[in-house]
Amino acid sequence: MEIQKEKILEVLEEIRHPETKEGIVSSGMVSDISYREDELWIGLKFSRANDPFIQSIKKACVRAINGTYGEDTLLKGHIQVLVPEPPPQREILPHVKNIVAVASGKGGVGKSTVAVNLAVALAQSGASVGLIDADVYGPSIPKMFDVEGKRPPARSEDGVEWIEPIEKYGVKLLSVGFFIKPEDAVIWRGPMATSALKQLITQGDWGELDYLLIDLPPGTGDVHLTMVQEVPVTGVVIVSTPQDVALADVIKGINMFAGEKINVPVLGLVENMSWFTPEELPDNRYYIFGKDGCKKLAEKMGIPLLGQVPLVQGIRESGDSGRPVTLSADTQSGDAFRLLSEELKKALNKRNAEQDPTRKVELTKK
Ligand SMILES: Nc1ncnc2c1ncn2[C@@H]1O[C@H](COP(=O)(O)OP(=O)(O)O)[C@@H](O)[C@H]1O
Ligand SMILES: [Mg+2]
Repeated sequence: MEIQKEKILEVLEEIRHPETKEGIVSSGMVSDISYREDELWIGLKFSRANDPFIQSIKKACVRAINGTYGEDTLLKGHIQVLVPEPPPQREILPHVKNIVAVASGKGGVGKSTVAVNLAVALAQSGASVGLIDADVYGPSIPKMFDVEGKRPPARSEDGVEWIEPIEKYGVKLLSVGFFIKPEDAVIWRGPMATSALKQLITQGDWGELDYLLIDLPPGTGDVHLTMVQEVPVTGVVIVSTPQDVALADVIKGINMFAGEKINVPVLGLVENMSWFTPEELPDNRYYIFGKDGCKKLAEKMGIPLLGQVPLVQGIRESGDSGRPVTLSADTQSGDAFRLLSEELKKALNKRNAEQDPTRKVELTKK
């Protein structure tokens, strides 16, 4: 049988790519036609590896050739598909030594307060520290650092977009709160919220950091899953009050993080509002939410208790005024957070010595 290249090109040009509507020859998709030992070979070039029409165009080629030259001629299996190499995946946060998520079972237990003061205490100890406010439903970090209304500058470098964190009190900060009005936060649901978080993580120009803390929304939800999928979280710290109702949700949180599916090490618990101490009676302790609730739970679950933080008016005031209490050198509350930061460092060192680095979690949909 006589095979002419021109004829084959003519036959193939009849096939159009369903998206571009262009003939596959004139649009340059047919990269090669060769005839070897009575067999025809065709090279088909696609501009993307996930082109949904690869199979159907291959089949259309076989049909067209067989339609012209007869069923038992030539071609079967001789169409070579060429697709571009996928771009190399950018390594996420390559210069960050420890990524620590701060989580809680319930809202209002002081998760942000702990995250903020931990960040300041770590920075005071000479470490380089970043803090991501991932509480997309109630971002409070801008207020607690007195940087509300700031807009982190963006820049583009070699086609990559970067967001420059805001620096305050020696801590690099990014919050979804910088990009939305507080009253709009409630409309941030599901995909919008998680994609905003992804941007803060992957596009933040964090540079070299010893610690990157992530203030998560309360509970266990989409944002948590996004986070463990986007970044290799070194470990999680869970904040709770000693109250029974709060502790029930802590157990849920621990089970989620430590569970087989996610498997991010739980570094320890932080008990907040452990007792109330009035300014004028500094030696008195009133156990308003119960005594040692987190301590007992930590013992029961075999995880460390990293610290106990008292309920102190100054902590609340410093949060509201945007000057974390830990900035003051000589307060009892500041000392509690400094002690906590030292315990966190120990827990991280132990974890890093004993366990492999965390990998990003790959969740498969059922
Ligand atoms: N140890 C504490 N002593 C006094 N007030 C606190 C303490 N921890 C948190 N607060 C206050 O409780 C409120 C809730 O704390 P926040 O950190 O915003 O909680 P979460 O992030 O868990 O929702 C804030 O007004 C905060 O200032
Ligand atoms: Mg909060």
